[in-house]
Amino acid sequence: MRFRIQTLNSISQKGLDRLPGDRYEVGSDVGHPDAILVRSADMHDVNIPASVLAVGRAGAGTNNIPVSLLSQRGVPVFNAPGANANAVKELVLAGLFLGARHIGPALDFVRTLDLAGDALDDAVEQGKKRFIGHELPGRALGVVGLGAIGVEVANAAHLLGMHVLGYDPQITVQRAWQLSSGVEQALSLEDLFARSHAVTVHVPLTEGTQGLVNAKRIALMPEGSTILNFARAAIVDEAAVLAALRTGKIAAYVCDFPSAATRGVAGVIALPHLGASTSEAEENSAAMVADTLRDFLENGNIRHSVNFPEAALPRVPATARIAIANSNVPNMVGQISTRLAEAGLNISDLLNKSKGEVAYTLIDIDGKVPAGLVEKIGGIRGVLSARAVQ
Ligand SMILES: NC(=O)c1ccc[n+]([C@@H]2O[C@H](COP(=O)([O-])OP(=O)(O)OC[C@H]3O[C@@H](n4cnc5c(N)ncnc54)[C@H](O)[C@@H]3O)[C@@H](O)[C@H]2O)c1
Repeated sequence: MRFRIQTLNSISQKGLDRLPGDRYEVGSDVGHPDAILVRSADMHDVNIPASVLAVGRAGAGTNNIPVSLLSQRGVPVFNAPGANANAVKELVLAGLFLGARHIGPALDFVRTLDLAGDALDDAVEQGKKRFIGHELPGRALGVVGLGAIGVEVANAAHLLGMHVLGYDPQITVQRAWQLSSGVEQALSLEDLFARSHAVTVHVPLTEGTQGLVNAKRIALMPEGSTILNFARAAIVDEAAVLAALRTGKIAAYVCDFPSAATRGVAGVIALPHLGASTSEAEENSAAMVADTLRDFLENGNIRHSVNFPEAALPRVPATARIAIANSNVPNMVGQISTRLAEAGLNISDLLNKSKGEVAYTLIDIDGKVPAGLVEKIGGIRGVLSARAVQ
C-alpha cells in the first residue's frame, strides 16, 4: 500500500526524502490524501477531506490549522517543536544587539552620506555620537516561556554575560534539564518585568498570552528598556508599546511582526517574520515532521502532536495493530476490549494514553485484523477514529 500525502506548501526536499517513493505518493495535487503536509498555508477555510488521518506542520506554531476541529474527527496534528529553535534564538540575539547598538539608524545614517575622503571621515566622526549604545553584560534579560526557543535564548544570553531571569510555570522536565543553572527563576511575570532591562517572549499565542506584554507590566520596567517579540504579534499590546516608546520608558521594540502602526516609529525595529527563515530550520522541520508522520501512518505511533498524547509501542512480528482515537470518557477501553473478545482475539499488547479531551489506544493482536472489526469499533459511541495498521 502507498500512502498519499498532499502538500499545501512547498516542503524542503530533505523532508520529502524521508518519504520513500515506493511507500509514498507526495504532491500538491494528490487527491484523497491520507495526510496533509503544510507550512504556513491557512487551513481554517479549507475543506479537509474525510480520508485525512493526520496533518503534519513543518514548523512550530499551529495557528493556521483548525486543531480542535481535527481533534473532534480523531485526527492528530503533528508539529516540529524545537526544529527551528536555533534559528529563532540567533535572530533574538541579533535583535538584542540591534537594539543595544542602534544598528538600524546607524546604517540609515551611513546610507545618507554621499561624501568621500576627509569630508566623509568628518561626517562619520560627527554623526556617530548619536549612536552610542550599551553592552549586554551586567544587564538583565527576562525570558517569558522556557520552551524550545526560550531555553536556548536564556542559555545564550547567560553566556553573553547577561543576568537572565526566566518565567514558565509549566516548564517541562526536559527543558528544565537543558536550562543553564545560571538562569534565575522569576517569581511572577511582575517580578520578571520589574527586574529586567530587556524582556523577550517565547510563549504560544493563546487566550492567556494575548496582550501578555501590556501597559501595566511595561510600567514596572526600568527606563530605556527593550521589548523583544519573536513569538506572535498579539502577545504584545502594540498600543502600550507605542505609548512607552513616546515617554522613553522603552527605548527599543524589536519584533518579527511589522504593522502599519509601528512603521517608521523611532525605536521600532521590525523584521519581516524571519525567525525560522533559515535553510537549516526549514530542512530540520520538514525532516522531523515527515519522520513523525511516517511513524504514525506505518505504526500508529504518536510523537510531537499538539492535540494527541505521546503514544508509541514497538512493533512485534506476527502481530497486527489497531489504532483508536476516542473521547476521554470512562469505559472506552472496556468496550473496545469487549469487541475484540467477541471476535475471539487475544490482545498481545495495549497502550492507552490521554491528553485533554482526547484519548488514544494502540492494541496489538496476534495474527491479522479480521474484516469488519475496525468498523465495529468505529461504531462505539465516543470513538472518533479507528484503523488497522497492517
Ligand atoms: N518568529 C518566528 O518565526 C517564530 C518561529 C518559531 C516559533 N515562533 C513562536 O514562538 C513560540 C514559542 O516556540 P517554542 O518552540 O519555544 O514553543 P514551546 O512549546 O517549546 O515553548 C513554549 C513555552 O511557553 C510556556 N508558556 C505558555 N504559556 C505561558 C505563560 N503564560 N507564561 C510563561 N510561560 C508560558 C510553555 O510552558 C512552554 O514551555 C511559538 O508558539 C511560536 O508562536 C515564532
